[in-house]
Amino acid sequence: MNVISTHIGQPVSRIDGVAKVTGQAKYAAEPHPPGMLHGVVVNSPITRGRIETIHDAEARQVPGVIEIMTHLNRPHAALFEKSYMDGLGIPGAPYRPLHDGEIHFNGQPVAVVLAETFEAAREAAMLVRVDYERWPHNADFEVALHQKYMPSKTRSNYVPPKPRGDAAAAYALSAVKTEGRYHLAPEHHNPMEMHATTVIMEDDGTFTVWDKTQGPQAVQAYLASALSLSKDQVRVRNPYVGGAFGSGLRAVYNVFLATLAAKMLKRAVRVTLTRPQMFTHAFRPEAVMDIALGASRDGTLQSMIVKGVTDTSRFEHNMENIVIWGLINYRCPNATADYKVAPRDTYTSSDMRAPGAATGVNLLEMAIDEMAYACGMDPLAFRLHNYSDIDAMHDMPLTSKALRDAMAQGAQHFGWHDRSMIPGSMRDGRELVGWGMATGIWDAMFSPTSARARLGQDGRLHIATAASDIGTGTYTILAQTAAEAFGMPLHRIDIELGDSALPECPTEGGSWTAASAGAAVWLACHSLRTKLFAALARCENAPSWARQDSVKLEGGALHGMNENAQDSLSLSDALSLTGQDVLEAEETAKPGLRGKISQMRKARFTHSAVFCEVRVDPELGTVRVTRLVNAVAAGRIMNPKTAASQIRGAMVMATGMALHEDSLMDERVGRFMNHNFAEYHIPAHADIPDMDVLFVNEHDDEVSPLGVKGVGEIGMCGTAAAIANAIFHATGRRERNLPITPGA
Ligand code: MOS
Repeated sequence: MNVISTHIGQPVSRIDGVAKVTGQAKYAAEPHPPGMLHGVVVNSPITRGRIETIHDAEARQVPGVIEIMTHLNRPHAALFEKSYMDGLGIPGAPYRPLHDGEIHFNGQPVAVVLAETFEAAREAAMLVRVDYERWPHNADFEVALHQKYMPSKTRSNYVPPKPRGDAAAAYALSAVKTEGRYHLAPEHHNPMEMHATTVIMEDDGTFTVWDKTQGPQAVQAYLASALSLSKDQVRVRNPYVGGAFGSGLRAVYNVFLATLAAKMLKRAVRVTLTRPQMFTHAFRPEAVMDIALGASRDGTLQSMIVKGVTDTSRFEHNMENIVIWGLINYRCPNATADYKVAPRDTYTSSDMRAPGAATGVNLLEMAIDEMAYACGMDPLAFRLHNYSDIDAMHDMPLTSKALRDAMAQGAQHFGWHDRSMIPGSMRDGRELVGWGMATGIWDAMFSPTSARARLGQDGRLHIATAASDIGTGTYTILAQTAAEAFGMPLHRIDIELGDSALPECPTEGGSWTAASAGAAVWLACHSLRTKLFAALARCENAPSWARQDSVKLEGGALHGMNENAQDSLSLSDALSLTGQDVLEAEETAKPGLRGKISQMRKARFTHSAVFCEVRVDPELGTVRVTRLVNAVAAGRIMNPKTAASQIRGAMVMATGMALHEDSLMDERVGRFMNHNFAEYHIPAHADIPDMDVLFVNEHDDEVSPLGVKGVGEIGMCGTAAAIANAIFHATGRRERNLPITPGA
């Protein structure tokens, strides 16, 4: 579609910004229905075993305590008797809260205390004592690696690709070789807003569930199936979400527990998680990658051998795409990849911002830097020398890849060409200065999405879709899209999101929402426009100019084409003329250019080039990131302001990945022990330098209907490697474990 941009592409400030900073935006833990009970979850301190006895008499004495729900007294629910798959589709048997007395992981909920006040519930929760029979467990990743396997049931895109060429033979013959084991620590999602659910029992016995989720319709489907309800008996709302990063892709245990308690007690219930409880569910898996690269002396890659393992739980087989990215992105005649999962007794690892690529791209790009140095080549020049214009793994053309432009513009902006090649050669006073770079790649995905556009008597355009804005700017870009498509000023557009009752939209994730929901809104607005024109054409008392094909909709009013100032009509008047109160249209956007991309054999990716400067104190080993430049090629940018925020946020997160974030397992007790912000360090203001984000021009009318690729995750990919590579350039030391800490 050809989009002439009046609104799309403008750096509009968030339309929901005022509601957020004035507290009008309501989050999942904020509704306070009458008679609401507060639920506090009691978590298991052991990792494997069985509950023997629950001592709750003392807890029940706390004034205000109404009930203590455990596996012994909870009501029956369909969830407990069937095997099911939730929205994430991870093969295995998803954990069922309060199913029985068996303990599968440390932090597993064993009871929910329900009380009139939060304080009473919390106090009582601390008084619940549970006797356990303890069974042996393994929470040690190194031990789990010995039990690695490829799940028999899997989603096909997680199976490693067929080898190309003969990587082992080519490696043996290569003049230049590098080989190493790279490691990424597990990380936990720590959005500002913690997981929470408020369940309201409506008078007719239906449930309204406010949940912090990335997919209201996925949670609706989960609850309907878990409690044997029809979909119209459960409505899930999440109009505002304070970040999620993937932790809200599947229903967290608070959702089911709050709803089950509401059903049991026939009262409204709210269950919120604490910060430590955020460390009792999803996390980015720990990963190792064994990477062997072979090249000829002129720096031409000859062989890539990539073997990766990520951890999962004992009850589900969570897999990630960690080994494929380099094989897609680099021209190399011989390449092979292998992937396995390693089970341990934890909750199931899960998707976290750029799942797979955040791990695989960053670790591979560290290895590429090593190879560039082994060949005596500038790391940027090495990447350009081995650049692939196709998806080299599948031998498929790409819809677009403006990575060369990203590399050139990023390098120019950063001043890369003034870099000295020799590590440790750029000093500033007593500090060592290092410059590193890496490239990033992430999927440019699209999911079928529906949206509704409605014109009302007040002359406002109302847009609705069940998308979630998890803080990414979805409200704003959809308003811009509607404004563009309908010829309407932004301030006369209302966007309604985050409600399972709205037109179907997949769970927010994978950076597909801008492309997918954007296309749906675009289509719905065009369809509404057509409807309006057709209604006017049929309308005998409309002015004759407005009944012609030559009428146009601009600035929120109808105009004749002949520039006669008289020939205009407000939208309210136009609607009145048609004799209708509202006019509405609903459309579904399908992948690709006019829905045809599924037949076009092309691969779709977003690309980036990241440049970093660090300063290292040679005595203390402390690292400061002092500059970051990220040049991104992501197709059409709907809003450079919110898009740049997405990239910056991901670069902050990637700085955490490179230098700070590390969920430390105490193998003896099987628990992530640094479950708070004192000990799990995420970057603070002082850790973050000026960050420049550039968007390179990339026209792509095949990738999605509006030419949009999405920007939610690409900022993670490559940034941590650029930091690691800058540390090598500063110090001459290769660190292959992320995060890189002074102790290393
Ligand atoms: Mo993202 S990990 O797809 O929420």
